[in-house]
Amino acid sequence: MNNKADLVVINARVATLAGYSKHPQRGEELGNLGMIDKGAVAVADGKILAVGPEDEIRNKIEMSGETALIDAGGRLVTPGLVDPHTHVAHYGSREQEYQMRLEGVPYIDILKAGGGILNSVRQNREASMEQIVEQSSKSLRRMLGFGVTTVEAKTGYGLDTETEMKTLRAIQALDNSQPVDLVPTFLGAHAIPMEYKENSDVFVDKVIEEMLPEAAALSKFCDVFCEEHVFSVDQSRRVLQAAARLGLGLKIHADELAPTGGAQLAVELGAVSADHLLCTDHEGIKALAQSSTVAVLLPGTSFNLMTGSYAPAKTMLEAGVALALATDYNPGSCPTENLQLIMTLGCLKLGLTPAQVLAAVTINAAHALSLAESIGSLEPGKKADMVVFDADNEAYLPYHFGVNHAWKVIKDGKTVLENKI
Ligand code: NIG
Ligand code: FE
Repeated sequence: MNNKADLVVINARVATLAGYSKHPQRGEELGNLGMIDKGAVAVADGKILAVGPEDEIRNKIEMSGETALIDAGGRLVTPGLVDPHTHVAHYGSREQEYQMRLEGVPYIDILKAGGGILNSVRQNREASMEQIVEQSSKSLRRMLGFGVTTVEAKTGYGLDTETEMKTLRAIQALDNSQPVDLVPTFLGAHAIPMEYKENSDVFVDKVIEEMLPEAAALSKFCDVFCEEHVFSVDQSRRVLQAAARLGLGLKIHADELAPTGGAQLAVELGAVSADHLLCTDHEGIKALAQSSTVAVLLPGTSFNLMTGSYAPAKTMLEAGVALALATDYNPGSCPTENLQLIMTLGCLKLGLTPAQVLAAVTINAAHALSLAESIGSLEPGKKADMVVFDADNEAYLPYHFGVNHAWKVIKDGKTVLENKI
């Protein structure tokens, strides 16, 4: 075996998150960081070669004059963070609606009146692919700066074949042109376009017959906004079953504003994740707990929409539901790329511990993208995606909030970003 390392991080507190590539952390397991004090991580060819106590690693691997050495100075090293729910690929913004919401107009009323998602749809239909790429690259640079190395990216601001395909091509171009890995999700059923307002079933047919077959080639997942006044459980089931027939993995925006049974639908269809889940009832939680569907919670959205209610994370955790956290970064309900801030909200608003939120944005987030075999933990053979935080321990990250603690970001074994702190 070749033991030649091309990069070694030494003198680190390494949160490996090891041992959970097959199944996410649930219940009492959540927050099992697999911490190694005075640890080291060795990398070769963009993959992790060895992880362990520094003395052991030094004996195990070969270092040459060409090996890059990073002395972490006792800092915390974690797997690259994974953001498993974003709408990063979009053009434009909606700060006028922010002002309306500050004056008390509910988010769903803005959408019903043709604003909200439909406002972004107008902006994205008019934008060129290059404009979407340009704006989204800025966001991805910010995300990388926060230590995020894999990001799920949904379409959904087109709602017609041309714009949905333009967005998928933008996601593909972004994936090829900057360090963050993107996971494309087709969300053609994100809102009912104005032109189908009285006829949503006809739009659902169009999504299934016209958009999905084209979009499938460029997508890994299909998602639906299953919600009162948006897509019903039956309509969502139709879209998702058609997507599954085309080989796509499934995700659902479920039970965000009202309890519709979206969580049960996710379990029924074997979805990889059910997301939001603010209003999920006891039955929904029980169903999730007995399934492999990961609950992706988005506390930044609750915070920004000022609804005052958050997903019942602790009840879910106690029931045995696998939890992950994400930004939901989008121009309406959650305009932030900062996953570290979401970790803070996970502690303050969802009642999770710092170790639990770290697991929720690494190994469990990787499970929410069906990628836990290659990312989400620091184990030999996995991608060498990692973050050196300017922090001694995991609690410091959510505790000192609203700022960026990433000191060095390593993607595929290369230092791609150094933040001067
Ligand atoms: O996850 N809930 C539906 N979709 C997004 C919001 C998108 C928007 O407002 O632009 C969400 O919150
Ligand atoms: Fe979303």
